[in-house]
Amino acid sequence: MKTGTLLTAIITSGIFLSAGISMATTGEGAETITLKGGSLGSVTFPHERHQEVFIDCMPCHKLYPKEPQIIDTMKAESKLKRKEVMNMCKNCHKDLAGKGQKTGPTSCGGCHKK
Ligand code: HEC
Ligand code: HEC
Ligand code: HEC
Repeated sequence: MKTGTLLTAIITSGIFLSAGISMATTGEGAETITLKGGSLGSVTFPHERHQEVFIDCMPCHKLYPKEPQIIDTMKAESKLKRKEVMNMCKNCHKDLAGKGQKTGPTSCGGCHKK
């Protein structure tokens, strides 16, 4: 299956499965989260905006649990590779851009700010 098709399937099934609980789950976790981004500077991540757009918590939280600072913890324990989360973010943005849909940044400076 192509990534794009898989993503569409995940998003579509998410919408059907969680339609009834979307309001209850959307407010979970911080509205905006600052992620460490190495030498290029930190990444300001609009968490709630993504929850609203995707309704369910995939694909992000299949990589890591819903806990504060979990990305740093798992990277320190080598349970997440460097840039593994970043590539997941970027791939979705690129994929949607390729389909001409509204999406997030794909350039380094679009996400990383000093
Ligand atoms: C587009 C990616 C993405 C989606 C979709 C997403 N999250 Fe998150 N979530 C994150 C990131 C990134 C973090 C921060 C992890 C860290 O700080 O290391 C996080 C952290 C959290 C935390 C920990 C507390 C906090 O605010 O740091 C909770 C709780 C959480 N998410 C709940 C949810 C729920 C519930 C959903 C689905 C309704 C969801 N998230 C959807 C990316 C996402
Ligand atoms: C869609 C947002 C986004 C884009 C675009 C992006 N990054 Fe990132 N980057 C992140 C996030 C989130 C992290 C932290 C999570 C991780 O390491 O996977 C990160 C982490 C990093 C790190 C630190 C990795 C480590 O553990 O030491 C470097 C270096 C980096 N990015 C460089 C780049 C460069 C160079 C580009 C452009 C070619 C780029 N990033 C584009 C979001 C992005
Ligand atoms: C499943 C697809 C998907 C994933 C995964 C994803 N994003 Fe996005 N992102 C979007 C879409 C769609 C938008 C546009 C939302 C809107 O405003 O309608 C967006 C918007 C953004 C924006 C711009 C918000 C604004 O106000 O203009 C940033 C910054 C961003 N994403 C960062 C990230 C980071 C960092 C991650 C990983 C932790 C991530 N995204 C993961 C789809 C995704």
